[in-house]
Amino acid sequence: MAITTAKRPADLYECRKDEFLVSTDRSRLDLNLIHHFLTDCYWARGIPKKTVARSIEHSLCFGMYNADKQAGFARIISDYATYAYLGDVFVLEPYRGQGLGKWMMQCIMAHPRLQGLRRWSLLTRDAHRLYAHFGFTPLKAPERYMEIHDPTVYSPIAVQE
Ligand SMILES: CC(C)(COP(=O)(O)OP(=O)(O)OC[C@H]1O[C@@H](n2cnc3c(N)ncnc32)[C@H](O)[C@@H]1OP(=O)(O)O)[C@@H](O)C(=O)NCCC(=O)NCCS
Repeated sequence: MAITTAKRPADLYECRKDEFLVSTDRSRLDLNLIHHFLTDCYWARGIPKKTVARSIEHSLCFGMYNADKQAGFARIISDYATYAYLGDVFVLEPYRGQGLGKWMMQCIMAHPRLQGLRRWSLLTRDAHRLYAHFGFTPLKAPERYMEIHDPTVYSPIAVQE
C-alpha cells in the first residue's frame, strides 16, 4: 500500500535535534509501523491498515525518526485558518521519557501553517500533562461540545477507552 508523497517539496517542514528528525514528508512514513501501533492502542483498536493510510493521506503528518527508523508520529486535521485537531500521537516505547514527545509537540505547534488558529483540540485518556506544556486545558465549556462517537466502528465489540 503506497502513501502519497507531499506534492510540493516546498511544503516540507523539518526540525532536527541531535540524531532525531521530525518531518512532514509523507513518503518517509512507515505505514506498517504506524498501523501496528494504532491497531493495538486504546483509542483506535482494530483500525484497518487502509483506514490508517486514508487518514494519513488527508492529514498533515509528523513523523519522528532516529536515523531512518520511525520513532514517533502525530497528525493534524486542519483548515489551516481557524482550527486544528491533533490526533494519533505516539512515541515508540524505547524512545519514551527523553523529552522527545515534548520536542515533537514543539515542532508541531511551530508549524507555519498552524499559526493564529482560533482553536486546537485533542482527546487524551492520561497524557494531559504532556499537552498542558503547550497550553491545552480541559474544556472550559463542555456543555457546548457535542459528538458522534462509535467505539465499535472497527469491531463489533466495544473497545475500552
Ligand atoms: C504520551 C507520549 C507520546 C509521551 O512521549 P515521551 O517522549 O515519553 O514524552 P516526554 O519524555 O517528552 O515527556 C512527556 C511529558 O508529559 C508527561 N506525561 C503526561 N502523561 C503522560 C503519559 N501518559 N505518558 C507519558 N508522559 C506523560 C510526562 O510526565 C512529561 O512531562 P514532564 O516533563 O512535565 O514530566 C508517549 O508516552 C506515548 O507514545 N504513549 C503511548 C501513546 C499515547 O498515550 N499517546 C498519547 C495519546 S493522547
